[in-house]
Amino acid sequence: MPNVVVVGTQWGDEGKGKVVDHLARGVDAVVRFQGGNNAGHTLVVQGEKTVLHLIPSGILQDETVCVVGNGVVVDPVVLVEELDGLANKNCGVEPGRLVLCPEAHVILSVHRLIDRLREEARGAQRIGTTCKGIGPTYEDKVARRGVRVSDLLDEAALRERLSKLLSVRNREIVDVHGADPVNTEELIAELRPQIERIRPYIADTLGLLHGIWKAGGSILFEGAQGTYLDIDHGTYPYVTSSNTVAGAACAGSGVGPTAIDEVVGVAKAYTTRVGSGPFPTELTEATGEKLRSIGHEFGATTGRPRRCGWFDALIARQAAMVNGLTQLALTKLDVLSGFDSIRIATGYEGLTRVPSRVEALEAVVPIYEELPGWDEDLTGLTEFEQLPENCRAYIARIEELVGVPVTIIGVGPGREQTIIRSL
Ligand code: GDP
Ligand code: IMO
Ligand code: MG
Repeated sequence: MPNVVVVGTQWGDEGKGKVVDHLARGVDAVVRFQGGNNAGHTLVVQGEKTVLHLIPSGILQDETVCVVGNGVVVDPVVLVEELDGLANKNCGVEPGRLVLCPEAHVILSVHRLIDRLREEARGAQRIGTTCKGIGPTYEDKVARRGVRVSDLLDEAALRERLSKLLSVRNREIVDVHGADPVNTEELIAELRPQIERIRPYIADTLGLLHGIWKAGGSILFEGAQGTYLDIDHGTYPYVTSSNTVAGAACAGSGVGPTAIDEVVGVAKAYTTRVGSGPFPTELTEATGEKLRSIGHEFGATTGRPRRCGWFDALIARQAAMVNGLTQLALTKLDVLSGFDSIRIATGYEGLTRVPSRVEALEAVVPIYEELPGWDEDLTGLTEFEQLPENCRAYIARIEELVGVPVTIIGVGPGREQTIIRSL
């Protein structure tokens, strides 16, 4: 089986978790390579819903090893909660099924605190972060004062790292926000029980992944967020703090680009966004509300209502470029049943690229094309040929505009509600 990268092509929540769970059958390892528990990846297996924030979406396939790569930021509290949540569902995760990279950076309570204090201070200018401490943790990583998973294994080293980090962070907490400083010993005491829980999962992920590759095994790289939340390619500054594009799969896991065979871009059959920032095809009236209620568009991590709009082919076309997509997974097509007509933005007036500055992106005028809808319920369909003609025409138009074949089609949230199309 090939080594495949799965990434979001829009603003996240495209259905990556479901696609990864589906593709993970028979795969040797599923690797998360960036982001943290800002992600919420939903899996529905035999009617039972599981939302994963940090543990890779291969965990419900029995044979697959799940790897949290070096590019991920790990909150030990969340990891322990997630392990407990899975154990309560009779899916205990033994060390060996989940492997945590020593080089991954650690989200501390001080990072969550700073994320929240800053968002509060920004008021109407807020980014709408998940307040999980993601941005502040990546800042400390790049500033070379972060705490890594391996540091958790040596309390003396941890104490030294924490006091350096806090000497900088406490200035912001106290001087800028007027809040109480964070104490090193209290932070260590907070971490101790979590460290004992996660210690058995920490191992050499690099050796593991290279061993699989060299033995001819297969690896699935699970992206989080989406292309337009990427720190470089997204709608900066309304983005997350990591590279979310396919190229990051290599840097964030320690596997070189020569190992990658396929890149699957996940796109919703319409578009959603949570948090602030430009969204050219957003529908702020009844149609947007209809998409939100039929599609159950509420955040898997924060529960916030997702903003909804039509499919934006320029966004998707540019995502195909920056990720090197070889296939598209088009999800939630079932949600569009019952619309008289469906619109696609084929581009923006006078532009061939998504503009760089948010002010310019706020001002674009999308060019819409209207396609006839369909009434049939798609949720029980299993073959491409069973899809209504208008639905197939919609898929064909998306393929034409994006320039990438649609090989996976989502017709419901369940694992089996996936049509695999052989070309
Ligand atoms: P992710 O972050 O990309 O993994 O996506 P989320 O899990 O945050 O959001 C996707 C939502 O859509 C979840 O509630 C999924 O269960 C659901 N979903 C995924 N694919 C489909 C589909 O094809 N049809 C429908 N109706 N729901 C889907
Ligand atoms: P998955 O993997 C949708 C958004 C937040 C906010 C911005 C920055 O489930 O697709 P952050 O907490 O990362 O600093 O917030 O990014 N965001 C997501 N939106 N899906 C996600 O992940 C997201 N992760 C972050 O809403 O606008
Ligand atoms: Mg999500």
